[in-house]
Order: sequence, then structure tokens, then C-alpha cells
Amino acid sequence: MTKYIIANWKMRMTKAGAKTFVQGLAALRDLPKEASTILCPPFPLIESCLGHPSFDVGAQTSGAFLQGPYTGEVSASLLKEMGCKYVIVGHSERRVHYGETNGVVKQKAQKVLQEGMTPILCIGEPLEIYKSGQANTYLQQQLQESLPEEGPLLIAYEPVWAIGTGETPSLETIEKTHYFLTSLLKTQTPIIYGGSVTGDNAKDILGLPSVSGVLVGGASLSLETFLPIIRSV
Ligand code: PGA
Repeated sequence: MTKYIIANWKMRMTKAGAKTFVQGLAALRDLPKEASTILCPPFPLIESCLGHPSFDVGAQTSGAFLQGPYTGEVSASLLKEMGCKYVIVGHSERRVHYGETNGVVKQKAQKVLQEGMTPILCIGEPLEIYKSGQANTYLQQQLQESLPEEGPLLIAYEPVWAIGTGETPSLETIEKTHYFLTSLLKTQTPIIYGGSVTGDNAKDILGLPSVSGVLVGGASLSLETFLPIIRSV
């Protein structure tokens, strides 16, 4: 079974760092065949990551419109033209810092699909919801309101409290949450986990039958920390 190993570099990568990373990754010939590796660089670094058969490239977000007077936005159509195959939509950092609502996330996902790319739709509960035991209700609403009408996509379950904190839910909670999300979906959809994934916990998380991959932030910034995750597949 394919396991998606997705690097989300956020706003943390340099031009030189990307070059070293990409050259190193592209040179490797012994990566697990079941691993589908996807790099999601900041927009200006997309071009420098393209053109390597052993991994695909995605964007970290895209505009909710396909073209027009939207200063600073990057459309799904341009990302497609560049060579991206995936676009992350609805990451919690976009929701928190840029006010992206479920409705906007859905609109973005639809545009990504319209352009023939695959959205990586992120959902996840904040800490207070997790503590109150209401995570499933929260996730159900997020999913219902942000899921595009139809089309192949990946769903990333990323508890907000697990992102960049070194904390993760128990394996049992990840498994149960993924099965719960699967039960809400009409079509078979890979569900990946994100939040403090490292070379130390990747094997256990990827070993869960309901987990189709991982979305990796901090540990995706260097090959030294990212490769052990790919090799855990
Ligand atoms: P992290 O980030 O691996 O640094 O926790 C994951 C993410 O935000 O996608």
C-alpha cells in the first residue's frame, strides 16, 4: 500500500537549503517503492524542486480564484502550469493566521481539483476541543464544511496541539480518529497523519492500518531528519 510522505517546509527553507536537499534526495536510488514522497516548498522554490522522478511537488496553499485582481495570491491554474501535482489546503496555520474558513478551504480545494491536481485537505482540533472530548464532533463539522463536492483528495488529520510541539496523540487515538473520519466519507480516501512526526515515531504511526502517510513539518527541513521517515515505510 502506498504511504504518502509529505514535506511541508512552511516559511522556513532557503534557496541554498532547498538545492542541497533536492540534489541529495534525487541522488538516492534505494528509497522504499511504497513511499510516495511529495515536497511542498514555498512558492519561489517550487521550480527548483521539479523534474525528479523519485518525488512529486506540491504547494502549501493556493488562491480561491483562478485568475483576476487578487494581489499576492497564486492561482491553482498557475501551480498546475508550473508542474505541481498537489496543493495543501486548510492547514491550521492558514486558518489561524489568515482567517481561512471552512468555506474558503472548500473553494480552494475545488479549484485545485478543477485544475487536475490533488488537494491535501487539512483538518484538526485545537487543544481545548481535544481536552473537552469533543474532537470527533469538531472534526465532523470541519470535514463536512470543507470537503469538496467530489474528486480524489488526501485528508490530513493534524491535531493543532500536536503541530510543532513534540506531542502526538496515542497510536490508539490516531487509529480511532482515522476510522471515524473514514466512516464519514462516501469514497475511499487516503487519510494521513500530521503533527510532530519524526524518525523516532514514524514507523509506529505509518504501521497503523488506517494511516496512509504522514505530513511532516519540522523534521522535513533536512535530509538527515526526513530520510529516516521515508525509510520507515
Ligand atoms: P510539525 O508540523 O511536523 O512540525 O509538527 C506538521 C505540519 O504543520 O504539517
